[in-house]
Amino acid sequence: MRHLMNPLDFSTEEIEQLMDLADDMRQHPDKYADSCHGKKLATCFYEPSTRTRLSFEAAMLNLGGSTLGFASADSSSASKGESVSDTIRVISSYADICAMRHPKEGAPLVASSHSSIPVINAGDGGHQHPTQTLADLYTIRSLHGRLDNLTIGLCGDLKFGRTVHSLINALVRYPNIKFVLISPEELRVPSYIREDVLDKKHIPYVEVEKLEDAMPELDILYMTRVQRERFFNEEDYLRMKDFYILNADKMALAKEDMIVLHPLPRVNEISTLSRHNSPSISEWHLSIHYWRWDHVKYQWNSRGICSRSHSGRHEHEDLS
Ligand code: NCD
Repeated sequence: MRHLMNPLDFSTEEIEQLMDLADDMRQHPDKYADSCHGKKLATCFYEPSTRTRLSFEAAMLNLGGSTLGFASADSSSASKGESVSDTIRVISSYADICAMRHPKEGAPLVASSHSSIPVINAGDGGHQHPTQTLADLYTIRSLHGRLDNLTIGLCGDLKFGRTVHSLINALVRYPNIKFVLISPEELRVPSYIREDVLDKKHIPYVEVEKLEDAMPELDILYMTRVQRERFFNEEDYLRMKDFYILNADKMALAKEDMIVLHPLPRVNEISTLSRHNSPSISEWHLSIHYWRWDHVKYQWNSRGICSRSHSGRHEHEDLS
């Protein structure tokens, strides 16, 4: 039995197959309408979520299956002190597969070792978020047509941003990838990623503090929010939260075909101010391809592998 904890649990060939499958699901949804008939998905979310949980559930429903689960630790027996291992043992007898989000790094891994059904890590603390990465890779392949020969700028909270960690892990397997890591000193990529992933594999990267300095060379700008819930004190969060605000002035420095991705939720890091205050990106008619997450849904194939697909359009989104 396979679990999904980290994007590296899939080979690059399997990821390619999943993305081809997602393309086919987009084009022929009817073909897949019963692929999970009679199957149950448990979503066990010990931490807040909008897109991730609902897209898992929507996908299972789209594929003819059904769902059960909880959306917060407070509404589960975790609030009475139950361990993740006890919870998953029981859920294993109710459902066929489980998607789990947890504030503690490694909790879904612990669950997988006590589970008799596959467990998907839907985000564990500031660690990994492999299904977001599948969606990111799919977006990049759809918009740029490739996953190699790219310069990717990752901007914001690179310390606690689990989507960033998973995306780096996944992308280093493709040829000629270069990273520009844009963050304040306090929010740098953790050393276990810098040393064990980037340095070890001799992947070129630079670390900069100013977004403006990085813009001209990027093919992709991956913006992230500062992860308030992972800070030890509110003062540090308040000092850091508006460190980066992507606006039209900064976009003017970018290549014509640079794409901006954001895993969402967006807080302040992409400007929405109107013309009279400061120019918003859309008002400057810049080419920002904003990922329409409201069209994203998880898709599920008959082998129990999960990916996300979208409606197939990238949009010039009005952000204001
Ligand atoms: C992210 C997450 O939960 O890690 N969102 C998501 O799942 N799409 C990003 C975030 O919370 O900042």
